[in-house]
Amino acid sequence: MKGRVLVTGGAGFVGSRLSMKLAFSGYSVLIADNLSNSTMDNVPKHPNIKFLLKDVRDDDIKNLLHEHEINYIFHLAAVISIEESVKNPLKTHTNNLDATINLLESAKQYKKISKFIFSSSCAVYGQKPDISINEEDSISPVTPYAIDKYSSEIYIGYYSREYGIPYVILRYFNIYGPPKSKITPYSGVIQIFREKISKGMDIDIYGTGNQKRDFIHIDDIINANVFALESEMADNNTINIGTGQSITINKLAEIIKGIYNANSNIGYKPARKGDIIYSSADIGKARSLGFYPKTDIESGLQKA
Ligand code: UD1
Repeated sequence: MKGRVLVTGGAGFVGSRLSMKLAFSGYSVLIADNLSNSTMDNVPKHPNIKFLLKDVRDDDIKNLLHEHEINYIFHLAAVISIEESVKNPLKTHTNNLDATINLLESAKQYKKISKFIFSSSCAVYGQKPDISINEEDSISPVTPYAIDKYSSEIYIGYYSREYGIPYVILRYFNIYGPPKSKITPYSGVIQIFREKISKGMDIDIYGTGNQKRDFIHIDDIINANVFALESEMADNNTINIGTGQSITINKLAEIIKGIYNANSNIGYKPARKGDIIYSSADIGKARSLGFYPKTDIESGLQKA
């Protein structure tokens, strides 16, 4: 057994696959998830995985770390919809920041966490010109979601300095991959477009469609997390996890229409509140530390 890992949000899109990968690699995995955004069907099944229906804000997280002799924490549990965070900032705040502080406080008291790996987001950078963003660029969150992600990062830095908890912060760009569920408010644009275009339905584009995203395949996200866990080079770093290539939403729609040879019409709707216009990762830091994404968008869409 390589170590005991807690994965918060382990029933989610990223967490479930990460848990499975860790279990197959010989880690013992404890999933804590309140199933607010998933069901038991999404909980991965493997002899090395234990599931607990648990909210990360609960008082007894410290006991849980103790009982299960946890060595590493992956903190993924969060409200992930930017739109929902705008509509319901208080709910986002307790789920996305209070939960992080509770986990850090529990880790501090327990004293035996060797690494705290946090799923953050490129949303922390806010609106930027059409350039690749690196980790030293200014932070300027424009939504409650992004504010809470960045606040979590600051708390993680604080707990690391004050209490010696090593960390890795991964700032994900836009994740896609084979979905596990039908379209929900949490579905990303690729899932929505694929689902609709493959059925010959029309799609909506919010705004001009000239907004850009750096889409990163779920397999690369999982590999980035394993890298964060296993590489000492990654310790106490904040790292962009993207591909370094971004495309417009208009272009994305064209590619997906091409894959399905479909004729879906595009309806242009008002832009979403707080929508980022340009998002593209500078991944020089990830590369210099030893992490390289493997899947570009064209091949990723073929395999997704
Ligand atoms: C996504 C993530 C968020 C993450 C962020 C990092 C989801 C649901 N949210 O937000 O957790 O922190 O990336 O960049 O995955 N769009 C359309 N038509 C649609 C759906 C979307 O035009 O039917 C547009 C949106 O307006 C947006 C773009 O596509 O401009 C991407 O939207 P979406 O996939 O929801 O992701 P983000 O808002 O970038």
